[in-house]
Amino acid sequence: MGSNSLAASAGLYQRARRIMPGGATRVTIWWPPHPPYAVSGQGCRVTDADGRVFLDFSNNFFSLIHGHAHPAIVAAVQAQAARGMAFGLPTQLDVELAEAICGRGVPGLSQIRFCNSGSEAVMFAIKAARAATGRPKIAKMEGGYHGAYDHVEVSYDSGPANWGAPDAPARNAYTKGTPPGVLADTVVLPFNDLPASLALIEAHARDLAAVVLDPIPSRVGMVPGTPDYLQGLQAACRRHGILLILDEIICFRLHPQGAQTLFGLQPDFTTLGKIIGGGQPVGAVAGTRDAMAVFDASMGRPVVPHGGTFSANPITMAAGIASLRLLDAAAHRHLDVLGEAVRDRMRAAIAAAGVPGQVTGMGSLFRLHLHDRPIRTYRDAYPTQAESARQSALFGFLLAHGILTTPNISGALSTPMTAAEVEEFGAALDAGLRAIA
Ligand SMILES: Cc1ncc(COP(=O)(O)O)c(C=O)c1O
Repeated sequence: MGSNSLAASAGLYQRARRIMPGGATRVTIWWPPHPPYAVSGQGCRVTDADGRVFLDFSNNFFSLIHGHAHPAIVAAVQAQAARGMAFGLPTQLDVELAEAICGRGVPGLSQIRFCNSGSEAVMFAIKAARAATGRPKIAKMEGGYHGAYDHVEVSYDSGPANWGAPDAPARNAYTKGTPPGVLADTVVLPFNDLPASLALIEAHARDLAAVVLDPIPSRVGMVPGTPDYLQGLQAACRRHGILLILDEIICFRLHPQGAQTLFGLQPDFTTLGKIIGGGQPVGAVAGTRDAMAVFDASMGRPVVPHGGTFSANPITMAAGIASLRLLDAAAHRHLDVLGEAVRDRMRAAIAAAGVPGQVTGMGSLFRLHLHDRPIRTYRDAYPTQAESARQSALFGFLLAHGILTTPNISGALSTPMTAAEVEEFGAALDAGLRAIA
């Protein structure tokens, strides 16, 4: 994997192994023999402890939309750090970041509350939906990722050995020891299969508080829900008094008014994270005024108490405000145009190498699959063992040649990138696909 002989990262990993299980603190950024250890980042490049420089398409799992150390974001963070990092009081900055998001004229983003991660945002949205409806269950997609809350982990990594019937996906625990009650209260839907999803929703309608939906779920394959599917799901929610929680933790980046505008959806709650924190830890639950009323503590104990020592901390708020200010219409256009270019270039690399493959994604997001089965559902995208092995080999090749993607070869563009970086990635992919052919 290229980092074998690199002394500094290897040394850090040996030290880490002594005091962290497996030598790592995040499951998503460990791979054999060990990842490179980052030292600094500037624009779209990251430098590791051994002085190697990577063109960064991971951007800390799609959270750094302006790349690393953007001067305006650094200045905002430094200025706030000097004024104080966190208070047991609200600040003007919470209000400003809330206004920056809720001032976009989108009913589903009328009000907002901040927390510290996307996982927390999803957890609070689900608690709010249960409280508002008095119902215990949620529905989510097979393969859909929404963070670490028990219920949304269900069937996140189902595979052929345990996934059950395509029209009634099995409820599989992701973490051993998940209480049976969690499985009983989670209905697993097959993404983009409307008849099967509607049948499952109808069978559980009286108990369902919410459907949790990412309209372009990256781990399901990063294909968008078809208009029929998304509208059909939303209509079923309305029919049965089930709340729609739209997870925009990644896909908020696709449109200035959010993915709900792009896909024509009117969710009750929207979960946000990643880019709204400008690179700092963040999450948020937004929603319609009606839906968000459950959090209102101004009249006494709220229906859903929501706190958090670091929620809306001023460093995150300052970074988020600076980041969203930079993400103007021109920045969105730049990312969209470059996104088309990178997906086209990836398709050209696949064609030139003569290997099975395809590219999914939209806007500034991409994912490469090393097979050419048409992808509509999680099961279509799911790689065979041989395809997984080729994917790991390609990821390793790219890393060794200065390109950082996520381990499943997905990525997100950042505003400092240009056509030159697209070509740099394309050339590495040309070589990588030939090498694994
Ligand atoms: C769609 C989606 N929802 C939720 C989360 C969880 O966010 P966090 O890692 O900030 O807890 C993620 C993280 O990758 C995500 O991609």
